[in-house]
Amino acid sequence: MSLPSTLTQAHQWVKGVLNPGSFAVDATVGNGNDTLFLARAVGVSGQVHGFDIQQEALDRTGERLREAGLAGRVTLHRAGHEQMAETLPPDWRGKVRAVMFNLGYLPRGNPTVITHAGTTLPALEQSLEWLAPGGILTVMLYTGHPGGKEEAEQVMNLLKRLDARRFRTVCCQTLNRQQAPLLTAVAKSGKPAEILSVQT
Ligand SMILES: C[S@@+](CC[C@H](N)C(=O)[O-])C[C@H]1O[C@@H](n2cnc3c(N)ncnc32)[C@H](O)[C@@H]1O
Repeated sequence: MSLPSTLTQAHQWVKGVLNPGSFAVDATVGNGNDTLFLARAVGVSGQVHGFDIQQEALDRTGERLREAGLAGRVTLHRAGHEQMAETLPPDWRGKVRAVMFNLGYLPRGNPTVITHAGTTLPALEQSLEWLAPGGILTVMLYTGHPGGKEEAEQVMNLLKRLDARRFRTVCCQTLNRQQAPLLTAVAKSGKPAEILSVQT
């Protein structure tokens, strides 16, 4: 038996909650790997919204989506994920089946343009509100670039303090590789959505 990579593991968890017609969000579009995966998984009747602050990322991903014939089910926003709540269709609130974050910098792009806890944490809190009961949020964390370790610590602190009655949070990492990415996931309980509750 072989264990999946953390990237594959994230896709497997997300695939488990997506059905044809589902709503999904890629919070860090980058080169579009997760956007394409989500677009395929929601099927022809589903929809995906994607966020990135770099036009380069959106252009590359838009091209890949067009080539794959998937552009019609994806809306790309040149906007920070912290603007998710004001950007997503209002009727998606509490109905998003999956949100994926892949933090850090754009591979083959400017390595100094990175995600930051100051915007990542509000975006995570918004995502948890917009998730459907039974939905899943995945966050891939990287510690090898400047600022990555600090961001990862703050994300972990937020996820550890989530109300265990409403969310189940797990993490997964390859242990015998230096600075391997850390995959975290939050499953929202099947009960009706209420206000995000963080224990202080
Ligand atoms: C590691 S890459 C994402 C990789 C992507 N999931 C893929 O499959 O190729 C991180 C991306 O986050 C983007 N980013 C940085 N700050 C952001 C923000 N506030 N909101 C949305 N995206 C942001 C960067 O521009 C970069 O493209």
